[in-house]
Amino acid sequence: MKKTVWTRRHLVDTHSLTVEEIFEVMAEAKALAGIKAPLLAGKVIANLFYENSTRTRTSFELAAKYLSADVVNLDIATSSAQKGESLLDTAETLAAMGVDALVIRHSSSGVCQQLASHFKNRLSIINAGDGMHEHPSQALLDLYTMLEKLQTVAGKKIVIVGDILHSRVARSNLHILTKLGAEVHLVGPPTLCIDPEPLEDALEDADVVMCLRLQMERQTSGLIPSLAEYREFYGIDRQKLELAKPNVLVMHPGPMNRGVEITSDVADDSLIRQQVRNGVIVRMAILKLLLQETGG
Ligand code: CP
Repeated sequence: MKKTVWTRRHLVDTHSLTVEEIFEVMAEAKALAGIKAPLLAGKVIANLFYENSTRTRTSFELAAKYLSADVVNLDIATSSAQKGESLLDTAETLAAMGVDALVIRHSSSGVCQQLASHFKNRLSIINAGDGMHEHPSQALLDLYTMLEKLQTVAGKKIVIVGDILHSRVARSNLHILTKLGAEVHLVGPPTLCIDPEPLEDALEDADVVMCLRLQMERQTSGLIPSLAEYREFYGIDRQKLELAKPNVLVMHPGPMNRGVEITSDVADDSLIRQQVRNGVIVRMAILKLLLQETGG
């Protein structure tokens, strides 16, 4: 078996990933591009999405199927969670059925770490987004997409714009990008970003601009005066992008509010679809490293 630096059983954050582990995901994802192979035949992976998702849930499902794992998508709306069953009891129920990995999205920050501590080596916990905490697979696919274009992020000026306060994507990206030597700038309204720098200063000579979704579902009242004002000051459009490098990469984790945090024309010329495409191979790599290399 190939030597791996990935000995961890769970992926709950990017904060604890080493640079070597990050690059191993990148190398595995590259090696798995265009491949369908029975590397996880016999493994069972359950998707538990307590919050809505299109990209993450579908790409984890496709990734598992491309590696010949069996996949269960628990429909939370019709599950016993609606009768009051706790997440832990639901997870234990699936564990009793022989599931090898639980891919979990939940509104509570920290639940994936709690489950990982609870299950230890019995199964793998994969964080597919927990509240305002982390979304590690998103940040890894974002990195893969940047590396395809830039070869390295070291020394690159990367601007993350928007609702930093509520963004698990921003947090996961910040951990990875700073570990790899990028110069990360966080910009947003003062109510949604601690100590933001002016957008114009951040955009000057930027290599990458990552727009974040304005998370209406997590807003408490009064954090932004109006959508129109947000769009004017923080919405990314062609005029604002003139401050950045001519070949600036524009990214967005999706789903986007077209015409709010990003104009439609900028979105259509951005890397959004490439990010989604890369999500499948990066998640294949994560599943393989967690479930195959560790003998899981
Ligand atoms: N980027 C992301 O997490 O998208 P979904 O909510 O569609 O999974």
